Amino acid sequence: MTFLPNDAAMMRKALSLAQEGVGYVSPNPLVGCVIVGQDGKIVGEGAHHQFGGPHAEPNAIADAESNGHTVAGSTAYVTLEPHSHHGKTPPCCDLLIEKRIARCIVAMVDPNPNVSGEGIRRMREAGILVEVGLLEAEARELNRFFIKHITTGLPYLTLKVASSLDGRSALASGESKWITSEASRKMVHKLRAEHDAVMVGTGTARADDPALTVRLVEGRQPRRIVLDPQLQLPHTLSLLTDEYHEKTIVVTSQQTVETGGTQVQWLRQQGVEIIAVPAGDGRLDLNALLKKLGDQGISSIVVEAGPTLAASIVHNKLFDEMQLFVAPLFLGAESRPSIGGLSIHSLASAVRYSYVSIDKVEDSLDFLVRVRV
Ligand SMILES: NC(=O)c1ccc[n+]([C@@H]2O[C@H](COP(=O)([O-])OP(=O)(O)OC[C@H]3O[C@@H](n4cnc5c(N)ncnc54)[C@H](OP(=O)(O)O)[C@@H]3O)[C@@H](O)[C@H]2O)c1
Repeated sequence: MTFLPNDAAMMRKALSLAQEGVGYVSPNPLVGCVIVGQDGKIVGEGAHHQFGGPHAEPNAIADAESNGHTVAGSTAYVTLEPHSHHGKTPPCCDLLIEKRIARCIVAMVDPNPNVSGEGIRRMREAGILVEVGLLEAEARELNRFFIKHITTGLPYLTLKVASSLDGRSALASGESKWITSEASRKMVHKLRAEHDAVMVGTGTARADDPALTVRLVEGRQPRRIVLDPQLQLPHTLSLLTDEYHEKTIVVTSQQTVETGGTQVQWLRQQGVEIIAVPAGDGRLDLNALLKKLGDQGISSIVVEAGPTLAASIVHNKLFDEMQLFVAPLFLGAESRPSIGGLSIHSLASAVRYSYVSIDKVEDSLDFLVRVRV
């Protein structure tokens, strides 16, 4: 790999352009592209903004050409290997070849196992000098939802919990609004806008009647998923009646759907999607659910979990990332724990995580603990 002094700055610019598509391109990847002329100046910038819409490379070339620049002989900085297959848009690697780009710097190879490396190979064959791996860690971080989904078929799962200093997430009465500050809640709304879906358990739906909408920040409204093994949630819940109710997915057991009668009919009339999965002891099979959601193109989920659902997710090792917002107060042992029972009987059997970061939440006294698997 031979990178020039200017390359990293240009790739950083491309990575920041890619962010423009957050929430709008999935299950496609976030991609940014910068075209730099032979004098070292940026002539074109582009991003992938909309699922099914034009990709970053044609957008950057169009930007350059609309400003009177020819891109022949220039360098393209792309955050992901230009695609080589005919999908919703023609192959971007062919466009870069046709436009006689001289050098192409790629942050990361396409993780899609069916096409990985093909775009790079085609460009090299056509005489473009291709360098791969500049700011690769940043590019992989940016597209962590896409990478998980394309390589496993499963959504990336972020588990979000708000906790007191003593690890409590609600009073014994169920009251939990609000443990954390408005600044933390804003970050949670941002998480919602970034993920394809936001999920809650039955207990939280009953106790809080949450809207799970994006209100405190700008962004698109994700799908909403609520577990309801017995199909007994009240018809009055915001999730089933508000302006976004057609974006709600109710997850229940296969047996309940077969015998669910009027409740199934009512939900379907409301336009609410029902997903049925196997269940045992009133617990829905979350692995089966994640597989079904992944098959539907849902590439990321943030779970705003009560203690019972959080425990299931932790116990079954289902989260990719946990975001624990910790607020400066104690709620005491009579309150509800942030994570329910995990059946751990020896310290040796507790999972210790190898990636943990702690940051102060800006404009508040809360802090955010991030745990990655
Ligand atoms: N601080 C926070 O971050 C936060 C976030 C969310 C909620 N909360 C608080 O948490 C409380 C609710 O928590 P909760 O523990 O009672 O309920 P929960 O975790 O929201 O939901 C658990 C329920 O979901 C159903 N479920 C179905 N399949 C499941 C599975 N595989 N694993 C786990 N649950 C499954 C079960 O319902 P059935 O029992 O009906 O079968 C289970 O009891 C409320 O007080 C709420 O305010 C706090």
